[in-house]
Amino acid sequence: MKTILLKINPKKPQPSLIQQAATLIKQGQLVAFPTETVYGLGADAFNTQAVQNIFKAKGRPADNPLIVHIAKKKEFFNLTTHAPALTKKLIQKFWPGPLTIVCWKNDHIPDIVTAGLPKVALRMPKNNIALHLITAAGTPIAAPSANLSGKPSPTTAEHVLEDFHNAIPCIIDGGKTNHGIESTVLDITTQPPTLLRPGSITKEQLEQVIGTITLHPHLKTPTKKTKKPASPGMKYRHYSPTAPVILVIGKKAHERLTLLAQTYRKKGKNVGIISTKRITPETVIIKHPKHYAQQLYAAFRRFDAEKKDVILVEGIAEQGLGLSIMNRITKAASKIIKT
Ligand code: TXA
Ligand code: MG
Repeated sequence: MKTILLKINPKKPQPSLIQQAATLIKQGQLVAFPTETVYGLGADAFNTQAVQNIFKAKGRPADNPLIVHIAKKKEFFNLTTHAPALTKKLIQKFWPGPLTIVCWKNDHIPDIVTAGLPKVALRMPKNNIALHLITAAGTPIAAPSANLSGKPSPTTAEHVLEDFHNAIPCIIDGGKTNHGIESTVLDITTQPPTLLRPGSITKEQLEQVIGTITLHPHLKTPTKKTKKPASPGMKYRHYSPTAPVILVIGKKAHERLTLLAQTYRKKGKNVGIISTKRITPETVIIKHPKHYAQQLYAAFRRFDAEKKDVILVEGIAEQGLGLSIMNRITKAASKIIKT
């Protein structure tokens, strides 16, 4: 199979190119497309065979459900059996945007999309290309992040190409994504609602709109394994570069990281570093949390390409966006050093 790369202008998506991609979706083919978070690997959510092909292409376990992307707020109510009062508030405030809402599914959604669960994850992305594509396809688009299972999520079309060159029919190149980490996932079928995955929309922001929400236990103790994950994605080791990732946290994190880097370099190791200050000329320097989120996955992929032996990462405070960033790093880490 030959992959077509369609370069589309995110500010003014060219209708003929959108149409070309939408036709593929309608035919049951896979199309990778940009969202404001990361790139997605999309298929017609109502086409069981097409959705099956997403799982195959990614090597994704069949028990890990997919997010269904929609282009209009009101489409939410066509796909769920029950929308609690707070739904409208959430949609009004955060859509389009990086919030995925898990709600009771209705019969329109094939079981394969939700991995047999009675709940479906819905999201309206804030990206012109994604919205035009969904509208032109005339169907909701089921899409996980467009990476091979176990690889960091893609924040550029080049990342998608690395994983799926000539393995899927079409990749839309809409440039670098804004946020760099995946959407916030909130389950509104529980009372209070449960945060399943932190993202760019923070717990604090959600609570301002709908009051108290619960953190899934898995998020409080990310290093311990819970028995029954509420979000099947939680039980898989995710977002991992090939080299072992060592996360250093606490007050003296930067000093400790600097020492560790020296030790490894003395041993002749090729060290990848993500830090708040420069340690070596190649250090990926993080200026603030938003910048951290944008850089993280691209840095992991670059370290892979550069065949690093070890990756040292400086932790940040687990508040606001920091909670989401630390969640991703913790999942990638094989060791956490507390200072
Ligand atoms: O930002 C994003 O959310 C990106 C873009 C492409 O939209 N998508 C994404 O999809 O990150 P994926 O498949 O990589 O992650 C979806 C997460 C997984 O952890 C999955 O287990 C969870 O959402 N999820 C999906 N459906 C669910 C459901 N019905 N119940 C609970 N968790 C669900
Ligand atoms: Mg993913």
